[in-house]
Amino acid sequence: MRLLFLTHSFNSLTQRLYVECTRWGHEVSIEFDINDRVTEEAVDLFQPDLIVATYLRRPIPASIWQRVTCLVVHPGVVGDRGPAALDWAILRGEAEWGVTLLQAEAEMDAGPIWASARFPLRQARKSSLYRNEVTEAAVDCLREALDRYAAGGFTPVPLAEYPERVDGGWQPPMTQADRAIDWSVDLTGTVLRKVHASDGSPGVLDPSLGDDLFLFDACAAIGQAGFPGDLLACRDGAICRATVDGAVWIGHLRRGLPRDGGLKLPAVALLGERVANLPEIASDPMQAEQGEAIRYEQANGVGYLHFAFHNGAMATDQCVRLRTAVMQARQRDIRVLVLLGGPDFWSNGMHLNRIEADSSTADASWANINAIDDLALEIIGCPNQMTVAALQGNAGAGGVFLALAADRVVVRDGVMLNPHYKSMGNLYGSEYWTYQLPRRVGDEVAERLMANRLPVGCREALELGLVDTVLPARPDAFFGAVTAMAEALAAAPDFAAQLAEKARQRAADEAVCPLADHRADELERMRLNFYGFDPSYHVARYNFVFKVPHSRTPLHLARHRH
Ligand code: COA
Repeated sequence: MRLLFLTHSFNSLTQRLYVECTRWGHEVSIEFDINDRVTEEAVDLFQPDLIVATYLRRPIPASIWQRVTCLVVHPGVVGDRGPAALDWAILRGEAEWGVTLLQAEAEMDAGPIWASARFPLRQARKSSLYRNEVTEAAVDCLREALDRYAAGGFTPVPLAEYPERVDGGWQPPMTQADRAIDWSVDLTGTVLRKVHASDGSPGVLDPSLGDDLFLFDACAAIGQAGFPGDLLACRDGAICRATVDGAVWIGHLRRGLPRDGGLKLPAVALLGERVANLPEIASDPMQAEQGEAIRYEQANGVGYLHFAFHNGAMATDQCVRLRTAVMQARQRDIRVLVLLGGPDFWSNGMHLNRIEADSSTADASWANINAIDDLALEIIGCPNQMTVAALQGNAGAGGVFLALAADRVVVRDGVMLNPHYKSMGNLYGSEYWTYQLPRRVGDEVAERLMANRLPVGCREALELGLVDTVLPARPDAFFGAVTAMAEALAAAPDFAAQLAEKARQRAADEAVCPLADHRADELERMRLNFYGFDPSYHVARYNFVFKVPHSRTPLHLARHRH
């Protein structure tokens, strides 16, 4: 079928549905919801069988849904309606939530239902639930609905007749008053629910810290307590704040809205002098606890390095600390080093917000790309261990190529990769991609991936040779499979032969073109991106970090406009 995706942006859910629908054999084109006239034009040009509204912030105009069947992905259970479905579900502490695929009609979210799915609601950030449970449920719903549509004869079920529905009806947008934390009465669990319901956007406005500060990235602070609301300590860029029954870590803050120049930054960086006198809790990756960004564990000859950097963004200091942790792990008595990234993202490359906040964005970009290159080099050159990049979460741009530095790349089913840089203002890219990518997928595919700027699902990544194995989607099954695979590798009778082969291959590759030459060539191009006369990268980064709305759909997505 010809499917037109109508969406506010090409976000993770839209990317995943795009990849799946393409795999199921459909022809997909995308139009950003910019204004009604542009959408009508897209429908005229593409003549879709169906429109799928993957992520919209306003209703579909009647001129569209009266003409073509429009399926709307609603991140709520049947009967739930309104623009803040997940926010309310998290704030209320629902045990179970779901996704409904309904047909657009005059009343928002009240149309008849094509499919629905439910899942247990984890205690997690909204963005994490959206990227995982909501996305998986949306894939299931869309597959069911497309099958029903293609088979014909299916009548979507009117809401009032749907057997399993909530009767809450319309839920209004969630205001900052609904999200507000009262530090004098709110329990830790309440504070976490309020921040989780607002994370990644819009955050919880917390005037008690002064200014117009928004809170993000919260977790319980084990073993900390104090007078409710007091700031207790700092650790790894986060601040610890007392609640009535414990304390929470707040990792990130933003002063003001993005459109007013607000940037989401580590809390300590944003508060500066105000927290200079707080006790600093040292963070040692080799002895870190759950909840710390870089954390090392070891068992049965395998080292596991977690690096759960917020949003997968890796700033210069984070790359340096992670590199040190890799070097320390390499000194341990292990045969395999597994690089696990974080639960939602493995890595998204350089930290664009931190770069934007720097007084010299060019210098900060240069330092960041060199730090990430140093880290990649440490992984590529690992002589005594086999390395495994195990991607629990998505990876984009430099983050994908950092993963390719490992000897084996395994991904959790459903993970999305964006193995390209061009969308960020024609960035050339580094992380030794000119070495890593062609040797895995060949020159032709490498060129295509870089030029197409499209997301790659894990099945396609496997077929292309970009990754080696796809492991089960459920986190516990994924970790079980990673552990089994890593331990088998460590215990392999031919382990020494595998290491020798890796060294031989590396030496052969080095003889053809030294890694230092790859890096120098890439950085020469990056230097132009950062310091040259063409400001495209700086403009694209600015638009990205300040979330400047799109004024048109990029042509590589809007195929109907080719
Ligand atoms: N630096 C800083 N923040 C980043 C980031 C980066 N490299 N990559 C993603 N983020 C942030 C986003 O701003 C967003 O922040 P929010 O919490 O305010 O919502 C969050 O991570 C999620 O990103 P989003 O773009 O909404 O996710 P997505 O799943 O829709 O798209 C990518 C994923 C990777 C395609 C997209 O995030 C991207 O293009 N990132 C930039 C990659 C890049 O160019 N890196 C630099 C070159 S190495």
